[in-house]
Amino acid sequence: MSAAPDPVKLMKQQVGKAAAQRVNSNSIVGLGTGSTTAFAIQYLGERLQSGDLNNIKGIPTSFQASVLAKLHGIPLTTLDEVDRIHIAIDGADEVDPHKNLIKGGGAAHTREKVVDSLAEQFIVVVDQSKLVETLGSTFPVPVEVLPMAITPVMRALESLGGQPELRMGVKKDGPVITDQGNMVIDTKFGAIADPVALEKTLNNIPGVLENGIFVGVADLILIGELQNGEPFIREL
Ligand code: 5RP
Repeated sequence: MSAAPDPVKLMKQQVGKAAAQRVNSNSIVGLGTGSTTAFAIQYLGERLQSGDLNNIKGIPTSFQASVLAKLHGIPLTTLDEVDRIHIAIDGADEVDPHKNLIKGGGAAHTREKVVDSLAEQFIVVVDQSKLVETLGSTFPVPVEVLPMAITPVMRALESLGGQPELRMGVKKDGPVITDQGNMVIDTKFGAIADPVALEKTLNNIPGVLENGIFVGVADLILIGELQNGEPFIREL
């Protein structure tokens, strides 16, 4: 007897496919990080192989994205070689009603912010569990920090009212090391009243490279939902 399909996986697959459908031929595509975007990358590869899509180049936001792009036959380029990104597709850990985000569940938020902010259209792909009324309600803010500055940055985050915790590896002893060789401090602030101010304040702490609050970057949110057990895509 085959197991029933995992509903969350089903939502992620459908929303990834819906985003990949919006990519046009002859475009530069920002390739996000995470399990939902992975489906978008897979479908982009399928569209290329079938001839439905031609001449795209991807800008990966992480090692994961570049490995997946190569696996699915998507040619890659860099920000040094292009003067625009037409569209970027990326996931999120929280989305508020103003399309502001918390990202960085995969510790890739620094490169993601560079690529997603440059894109002429930034599409966010999430399942319905990621929607919140106020950022910070369910997810801590990931803060990427130079390793030599971990202790003073932890103190500064505490003095801002946060509860910082160094992100530790899974199936790897010690802290998570980002693609840039830094560490991530996940910081709980509770519901964030002013995400614009907090994003700036965090980035002003010496030793902080970037934090996971994305304000005013997303153009379109594609939300995978289940209605009567069937996947359905809603737009925000
Ligand atoms: C990586 C991210 C991801 O996009 C975010 O964590 C969502 O991932 P998933 O689609 O696996 O839920 O920000 O840094």
